[in-house]
Amino acid sequence: MHLATLLLACASVVPWLSSTEATPPQETPAELQARLAWFREARFGMFIHWGVYSVPAGEWTDNNNHGEWFLKSTNIPLSQYVHYAQQFNPTKFDAKQWVRIAQDAGMKYLVITSKHHDGFCLFPSKLTDWDIGATPFKRDPLAELAAACKEAGIRFCTYHSIMDWHHADWGKRLANNDSAAGTPDMDRFTAYLKGQLAEIITAYRPGIMWFDGEWEDPWTHARGVDLYAYLRKLDPTLIINNRIDKHRDGMAGMNNHKEAVGDYGTPEQEIPATGFAAGVAWESCMTLNEHWGFNKHDQKWKSPTVVVRNLIDIVSKGGNYLLNVGPTAEGVIPDGSTQCLAAVGTWMKINQAAIHGSGASPFAQLTWGRCTSKPGKLFLHVFDWPKDGALVVPMTGTVTKASLLAQPGTALAVTTGKQGVTVILPAAAPDAVASVVMLDVTGDVQPINP
Ligand code: GLC
Repeated sequence: MHLATLLLACASVVPWLSSTEATPPQETPAELQARLAWFREARFGMFIHWGVYSVPAGEWTDNNNHGEWFLKSTNIPLSQYVHYAQQFNPTKFDAKQWVRIAQDAGMKYLVITSKHHDGFCLFPSKLTDWDIGATPFKRDPLAELAAACKEAGIRFCTYHSIMDWHHADWGKRLANNDSAAGTPDMDRFTAYLKGQLAEIITAYRPGIMWFDGEWEDPWTHARGVDLYAYLRKLDPTLIINNRIDKHRDGMAGMNNHKEAVGDYGTPEQEIPATGFAAGVAWESCMTLNEHWGFNKHDQKWKSPTVVVRNLIDIVSKGGNYLLNVGPTAEGVIPDGSTQCLAAVGTWMKINQAAIHGSGASPFAQLTWGRCTSKPGKLFLHVFDWPKDGALVVPMTGTVTKASLLAQPGTALAVTTGKQGVTVILPAAAPDAVASVVMLDVTGDVQPINP
């Protein structure tokens, strides 16, 4: 008997295979914030979409625009798609190097696809043969990455698709699934899902379980609540995104129902127009080019200016930025990504104090750029350097010190008037992308004419 079948047969006696769980653990707002503390401090993370779809690299006979949805978008028979696993042999994969790329860019966590919609598991799972064991690559990339992250002080996290185009029990089969037999059974599927999540949590201790593919009908709010309760019991410190439930407001990504479970919102490829109430956590995920999974024809890379300004914009609204790379089937993060990230890292080395551990701006809008804050400090991210050298900050309160993060020893003069505080800047901006002025502030700091 296949091990998965055996385990499922034992569902009634194996606790992590039972499908009914209690309601989610009760938590005070302060306890929730404590659990989310590292995440909110981190602000910037690396997303990694990696799987057998990186073998065709986006190319097919109809067009070369495919990505991680390859199985569905090309409509090839599943029985044909699975053969790509035999060519997935990333001999150039170096976990330490990937982690270094993230760390040098100023990223503090990494979220990798343990399983995408095609159901392929990037880790050795005892519950399926559709995993890394089906490839010639006889290593465990997740174990290597988790170890490299630990060594570097980066949080290791996993993305796990709920929707599964390979598993016979996922309730909605693809038309090109020529391999599944029998009637799909979502209870059995949920047991499989829980079993794999337990494997991942036990083996790699991810900081976040990042769900996706929750939108198809077979997945329900009740299953989401049950899974949330199950995971929180398995690891009470785990952070879980809101795609575990059914109440995500499309690509805008925030919850649209008060009963939604999940710890934070997940805008996709967009940045909300404004921030949210202080306790609401969220993270915008974005591609660096136009695909999540590797596509060798896609060279439309975001510029470092766009990435840095997106990061600043997001943090000024109280969010996190999760920026994606799609490594090749050989295990290489494409040059277009590494070059951009290296430039972002140059900016971060000087200005990271204004990002890590910093949060939302007290100002709804500023004409010259954005603001991020920490208790007792405001960081003014100047995109448009004032020609007259006078940076007007429409605020009450007292500035005890003003300096540029790029020139930490030099104090800038400050005057106060009815329009607020004016910082006198040097003639030239130290950074064409964003120069950061740090203000030490006391008293009642409020925006003027918000
Ligand atoms: C979408 C896509 C998916 C990608 C994800 C990242 O939901 O289905 O391919 O992994 O967005 O947020």
